[in-house]
Amino acid sequence: MSPATSPATHLIPASAARPGDDPIFALNAEATRRAQGGEDVLNATLGALIEDDGQLAVMASVFEAMGRIPPRLAASYAPISGPTKYLNAILDDLYAGSPLRDSAVAVGTPGGTGALYSAIVNFLEPGQKLLTTSFYWSPYAILADHARRDVATFRMFAGDGSFDLDSLQSELAALMRAQGRALVVLNTPCHNPTGFSLDEDEWSALVAILLEAEKAGPVTLLLDLAYEKFARPDSPAWRPHVERLVNGGVPVLVAWTASKAFTQYGGRIGALVAAHGDAKERERYKNALGYSCRGTWSNCNHLGMQAVGTLLTDGALRQKSLAEREALRDLLDRRVVAFNREAARAGLAYPRYEGGFFVCVFCRDSAEVVRATQARGVFVVPLPGAVRVALCSTPEAQVPRLVDALAAAGAAG
Ligand SMILES: Cc1ncc(COP(=O)(O)O)c(C=O)c1O
Repeated sequence: MSPATSPATHLIPASAARPGDDPIFALNAEATRRAQGGEDVLNATLGALIEDDGQLAVMASVFEAMGRIPPRLAASYAPISGPTKYLNAILDDLYAGSPLRDSAVAVGTPGGTGALYSAIVNFLEPGQKLLTTSFYWSPYAILADHARRDVATFRMFAGDGSFDLDSLQSELAALMRAQGRALVVLNTPCHNPTGFSLDEDEWSALVAILLEAEKAGPVTLLLDLAYEKFARPDSPAWRPHVERLVNGGVPVLVAWTASKAFTQYGGRIGALVAAHGDAKERERYKNALGYSCRGTWSNCNHLGMQAVGTLLTDGALRQKSLAEREALRDLLDRRVVAFNREAARAGLAYPRYEGGFFVCVFCRDSAEVVRATQARGVFVVPLPGAVRVALCSTPEAQVPRLVDALAAAGAAG
């Protein structure tokens, strides 16, 4: 066949001009290239927890758990919605001791990403928009677009730096008028990219807003808990607020993932957990979410789900994994403390930051700040009106250098 008769591309138009490399991975590649060239590079771009010696942090207990899974079980297909032991372990992990334990169903997903995808396709019609904060993890938009849905945002921070509940309320009302249903996606605690976590008062106000909006049609909250296990132990309890929402008829979905909780980024082990007070409705959720599993990834990493099921339920292994994670959280917390101290000294403007993998620093021209910090070997990620700083990959001793580079680049408020 002559090339002249071939179309320019066999791809459908929507797929023909997709961007290539993910911008964050491209920045990481540049940082790595310069480091390999002998430069003293501080790479604060990637979202994985790195030890102070530059090695990826891993948990030995996870590999011990994997070693205990019989090979023929590990190698076999998992049930479509996930192994019962795993799903029960996730439900206990989230809701043990809460009435929600018996008001929730779960399916296995490839990481939190799979959980987000499944929520989007089952709780929004094609063409409708999910609602999230104006700063958000950029794959939300890719997931929505790829599923023929879209993203609407509310302003995340009011002028005084507080969580902008008024903007949430008005954007939610507008969305309810426009599409008659809403899926509100919130990543808290330890929001990526800002580091922000909702406090008690903000949670209470959020519950009131969602319950009010539910009067106009179905409203669902999707809580993205990707970083929850790295929140401070005294961070506000979200469960009582979720209980109030579910009691008031607003279903709450949780995107659960082992990527950060068990440092298994490549394991693709996650779950979508859906809580609703009515058993028949829960049955519909279970069926719909299981159908989405079959219609996308079919079933997930069997070895990974079995291992996480074991880690969450075997007494000794569970204790071991908790101790290992505690050490990792301490590592991260020391960086958070150092950042808060240094950033206050340098006068950087940034949101309330008590823990988590990232924080963002507000600035007028983020492209210029990124350029200027890179000139000093410091790599951060540009956002509209801010840069994202990955404390998860910044050794504690390098925090002053990071802050100085940001201040020198004009990021001081
Ligand atoms: C905010 C947020 N949500 C969800 C995820 C999902 O990650 P995974 O699919 O690896 O669980 C990430 C990962 O970086 C994230 O930052």
